[in-house]
Amino acid sequence: MALPPNFLDELRVRTPLAPLIGRATRLTRSGRNWKGCCPFHNEKSPSFYVYDDHFHCFGCGAHGDAISFVMQREGAAFMEAIERLSAEAGLEVPKPSPEAARRDARARDMHGVLAAVEAAYQRRLHTPEGRPALDYLRRRNLTDATIARFGLGWSGEGRGALASELREQGIETAQLIEAGLMQQREDRATDLFFNRVMFPIRDRRGRTISFGGRILGDGQPKYVNGPESPVFSKRRNLYGLDLAREGVFRGAKLLVAEGYMDVIALHQAGFGGAVAPLGTALTQEQMEALWSVSPEPILCLDGDAAGARAMARAAEVALPLLAPERTLRFATLPAGEDPDTLLAKGAPAMEAVLNASRPLAESLFEMLREGRALTGPEDRAAFRKRLETAAASITDKSLASEYRRALLDRFFQLGRRAAPVARVAARPVLGAATRPAQARTLLATLLNHPWLLDALAEPIGMLDMPEGIATQARDALLALPPGLDGPAAREALREADAVALAWLATASALPLGARPEAQAAEAEECFWHFFAWLRGDAALNADLAQAQQDAAADPTAEKLRRLALLKEAADAHRRGEYQAETG
Ligand code: UTP
Ligand code: MN
Repeated sequence: MALPPNFLDELRVRTPLAPLIGRATRLTRSGRNWKGCCPFHNEKSPSFYVYDDHFHCFGCGAHGDAISFVMQREGAAFMEAIERLSAEAGLEVPKPSPEAARRDARARDMHGVLAAVEAAYQRRLHTPEGRPALDYLRRRNLTDATIARFGLGWSGEGRGALASELREQGIETAQLIEAGLMQQREDRATDLFFNRVMFPIRDRRGRTISFGGRILGDGQPKYVNGPESPVFSKRRNLYGLDLAREGVFRGAKLLVAEGYMDVIALHQAGFGGAVAPLGTALTQEQMEALWSVSPEPILCLDGDAAGARAMARAAEVALPLLAPERTLRFATLPAGEDPDTLLAKGAPAMEAVLNASRPLAESLFEMLREGRALTGPEDRAAFRKRLETAAASITDKSLASEYRRALLDRFFQLGRRAAPVARVAARPVLGAATRPAQARTLLATLLNHPWLLDALAEPIGMLDMPEGIATQARDALLALPPGLDGPAAREALREADAVALAWLATASALPLGARPEAQAAEAEECFWHFFAWLRGDAALNADLAQAQQDAAADPTAEKLRRLALLKEAADAHRRGEYQAETG
């Protein structure tokens, strides 16, 4: 949507961020900026910062300006957010350009046309000609309330009946063609849908944007779907998303099933977070739409080869997009069942399938193993390569290294234990005996490798630093804008807190892992090593035990991640000690 560029600038200027965000979470001053607990993920200590013109969460990576805040917070579309903020700022949203305005009007018309068509289909379902369709839906165990809630209808027999009915409401055949309900065939328009049960497809706001039509009983094609149109994109929408947003808001799990009937049966059985793609494999856009509703949607897959293929495709699309609060789970249905048939045996059967769902990292391992025994070295090497390639396809650096570690850990646990891995590189961590010196080394590591600040804000924030300059430097580092490289971070810190920078710069003889030239993995290990020192053995072990308990009782992505991070700290620590003994 092409708004005049000045308008968005004006809107941002007139919408100070702190008061807007302050309605969603309590903010306190932090230097020139504000901080508070992140409104986008659950946290107890604040890692969410509000700057002049943007916000950033060092815990979950949420990031954006006033407009994206409203979009993310309220699930609003871009123009909805613009309209809401403009109203509050006392601005009128300009009509962009005559061309865009025309396009808008046409889209608005199209929603009106589709609503009128939906109403016509629904009326027909309850007339004598729709009786077989209504009986069919009831035979498939749908209640009348469900039929109404999903707006199901009957197309009629075609032959232009829809067009003549709607003409009385002032809707032209050309509009029906544009909305994808009729096709121009030589000199006449024919109906796309006839003798079919009609399923309205709605956008996230609940507006009907197209239809799927199912044949009564057997026959091909089983479903006909409307074509792409100015309001309908198959790859961007999900069936049931409007209702699932509400369901998830009320505590339901976000579930991805395969078919329209599955979604409807799931909702009717109380699984209010069910959606389905529109007859294709899940796309990147659909994945993003899912994550805007829940950090960990569950994909319900068939137990057969097709289900395995669907899982592989979904994993391939998801991996590059993963982030700490953007992951997937996989639930496998018993062979030959879909959620609709399984629910016929009772909701507990479906509940059990969901309870047995597994996180992406675990499923990925089994998937890449491809069911092989992996006895020979060639097999093992090839498998290991697949694991490493999969982890490397994750764009989020720290998550990629988590995946790599988790996958390889499992790999080495598999069957016969491999010989201990020889560590080629010299141990990157040495030195720094006293507590303030340890703190300084840890913070210098962060200054030289600022991506760690973005990835590990939570553990950094919870660490008990020596009072005074160490605490001051830590807070100044955490308040740096995200995405800086080493030199830029140094420059930004000079501006924000020259004293802290001077203190960090006097750290002498930094261990290799803390220096600018260290590899990312070395820097990360160095961080965890000093983290463990500062935390202390007793506290760290207590943390670990608690995290283990928490994750076992309720294995959410967040808890598992916390456990993994603490394990990493303990491991780095142990490796460092081993080095000190033998080195
Ligand atoms: P299914 O064949 O599993 O259908 O296709 P279903 O939804 O379970 O329907 P019932 O239970 O047989 O009535 C799954 C999805 O694939 C798309 C539809 O979106 C369907 O819901 N599909 C299937 C088509 O688009 N065209 C087809 O011909 C078949
Ligand atoms: Mn089915």
